[in-house]
Amino acid sequence: MGLLLKNGEIVTATERYVADVYVEGETIARIGQKLDVPAGTEVIDCTGKFVFPGFIDPHVHIYLPFMGTFARDTYRTASVAALTGGTTTLIEMCCPSRGEDALEGYKLWKSKAEGQSACDYAFHMAVSRFDGGTEAQLREIVADGTTSFKIFLSYKNFFGVTDDEMYQTLKLAHDLGVIVTAHCENAELVGRLQQKLLSEGKTGPEWHEPSRPEVVEMEGTTRFCTFLETTGARGYVVHLSCVPALKAATDAKKRGVKVSIESVLPHFLLDKTMAERPGVEGMKHVMSPPLRQKHNQQALWEALAAGEVDTVGTDHCPFTTEQKLMGKDAFTAIPNGIPGVEERVPLIYTYGVSRGSLGLNRFVDALSTRPAKLFGLYPKKGTIALGSDADLVVYDPAYRGTVSARTHKTNTDYSGFEGFEVDGRPSLVMVRGQVQVRDGEFVGTTGRGQFLRRKPEPPRAD
Ligand code: URP
Ligand code: ZN
Ligand code: ZN
Repeated sequence: MGLLLKNGEIVTATERYVADVYVEGETIARIGQKLDVPAGTEVIDCTGKFVFPGFIDPHVHIYLPFMGTFARDTYRTASVAALTGGTTTLIEMCCPSRGEDALEGYKLWKSKAEGQSACDYAFHMAVSRFDGGTEAQLREIVADGTTSFKIFLSYKNFFGVTDDEMYQTLKLAHDLGVIVTAHCENAELVGRLQQKLLSEGKTGPEWHEPSRPEVVEMEGTTRFCTFLETTGARGYVVHLSCVPALKAATDAKKRGVKVSIESVLPHFLLDKTMAERPGVEGMKHVMSPPLRQKHNQQALWEALAAGEVDTVGTDHCPFTTEQKLMGKDAFTAIPNGIPGVEERVPLIYTYGVSRGSLGLNRFVDALSTRPAKLFGLYPKKGTIALGSDADLVVYDPAYRGTVSARTHKTNTDYSGFEGFEVDGRPSLVMVRGQVQVRDGEFVGTTGRGQFLRRKPEPPRAD
């Protein structure tokens, strides 16, 4: 039986118009005015609401052994949280550590999602070591449809790569037509600063930011861009947080380096004073790169509106209060990361579009279309067009609510965004033609989500 979204305002990265959308099976079959549809079609009145393409979160952690513990979501909890917030596709960082086998890790990460996810998903494959066996394994992983890599310039001896390994990864990625995403902080400097601060008795969460100052992120970003320029590879800076790093990446873009920029939800809305709160309240806001001084937020919003920041992800990485307390004696032991997969769409809509100056088309572009294009999912995902997957979000801009851990679906006992007001919410969310969320509640099927196999971009002659 088909489904008709009637009379909503369709918003893509480039257009806005009122029309009906008819969904047949898993795809969008017709778009037009006052569509005649077969008897038995479910009709959903979308008058006064937006119809957006399903949103794509290009940076999440679900299964993650990290800093002596594990991130708290499963694919079931994370995908239900994502869908409630309008995200229909997740791209998870597949992160075996340096001591683990890449291919075994890839199989393990896939097994965590298979038959569990309520939304569609793909992976960025972390390269945490590059030795004699790595190239063959990465070729196999790309052949399986995972066409983006991840490297960490931070987290020395755990996820982090050396410059030599970064070079080899980028060379191979260039040859394979694969994009490389990168966490850009200088590992050596972070380690030195951490030891210096601890030796001075500076152990609280407020010292996390001084141990990873802006200049450390700027250096990592500059170095990554320089390596991209030298190898000709395509790259993507993840979770960029501050003006000096932004300048490094946008300067590289201007001189023709093939680099795209992601900033993540926390850095648009939260600042370093939150990590300076005493005790566990501060610990709840420890992530890397750290929350910065407030003036950086305005720069990120402006760069987002201008398209210099290409995408908004979350770096969703949920830990509980109890886990955060692992760092009560030393900020270096606080598990890094906060949840956000559920709040990204309504909070960026609220503080960007509704209460800020972010255009609605750019909003859709940054949270759906551009991630789809950059990571080989477009036009199946990331737009509303004939033949595209019927991943659709009906967004009610009149709804008013407040973020709270008491009501969120994420598997943590706190929210980094507790008390933030939201203007609007997804009132209906559909994945490949099946309604998964109605009025803020999950009504669908977990296990229905599909692994998205992607194709590499053919190597370029340059
Ligand atoms: O603090 C963070 N970002 N935790 C997750 C791991 C990472 O660096 O992305
Ligand atoms: Zn990172
Ligand atoms: Zn991350």
